[in-house]
Amino acid sequence: MRYKFYREHKFISATLNDVAESIARADFSSDADTKEVLIKFEALRAILGAHTHYEDVVLHKLLREKNSTVQAPAEADHQHYKALLATFVQDLQAILASTDSAQRIDQGDAFYLSFRKFASDNLRHLCEEEEIILPELRRLYSNKELCKVECSPYESNEQIASLMKNHFPHMNPNDREAFLTDIKACDPAKFAVAWESIQATLEPSERANLTKKLL
Ligand SMILES: [Fe+2]
Ligand SMILES: [Fe+2]
Repeated sequence: MRYKFYREHKFISATLNDVAESIARADFSSDADTKEVLIKFEALRAILGAHTHYEDVVLHKLLREKNSTVQAPAEADHQHYKALLATFVQDLQAILASTDSAQRIDQGDAFYLSFRKFASDNLRHLCEEEEIILPELRRLYSNKELCKVECSPYESNEQIASLMKNHFPHMNPNDREAFLTDIKACDPAKFAVAWESIQATLEPSERANLTKKLL
């Protein structure tokens, strides 16, 4: 089986949907609701910022080193999203600054539509990375070479525990097994941390299966 990147896309896709739902339900005439949207949106922005940075400096670097250019549209998307997400923060701050309830509700409706357009475009972007960039990485590099690349994001114990807790609920059992197998191959000590952080949340049959295969 070929090495797989982009396992975090399921988590990102779920988070985009979750933020869109929060925006859809928010009463933008209320400071509390608007602030809650801003907090959720900033959390999403941080996740997307870290994710695109990783793709640009780690995955796309591999392609540049082989003179491939398939990553160029994705990199242009990243730049566009960075600027767009900064304007979304300004939009939410403008809503909070307004004292006109009717105007705030209109601004909230416009913000919801802008966010939904961004979210749908971002979902298209995630698919293109998996359908265009991933096959190119597999064409240019061996499994062994690709596996080594992904060891680097697993830095501190806290990061790995939070990664597992965020990602696991959005994965199927095969994804989870592959994810843990990759971490174990990269760093057995980090695997121990990862396993400890999520094993109690697994269904007993899945836990037993993974225990048999990985421990
Ligand atoms: Fe991306
Ligand atoms: Fe991505």
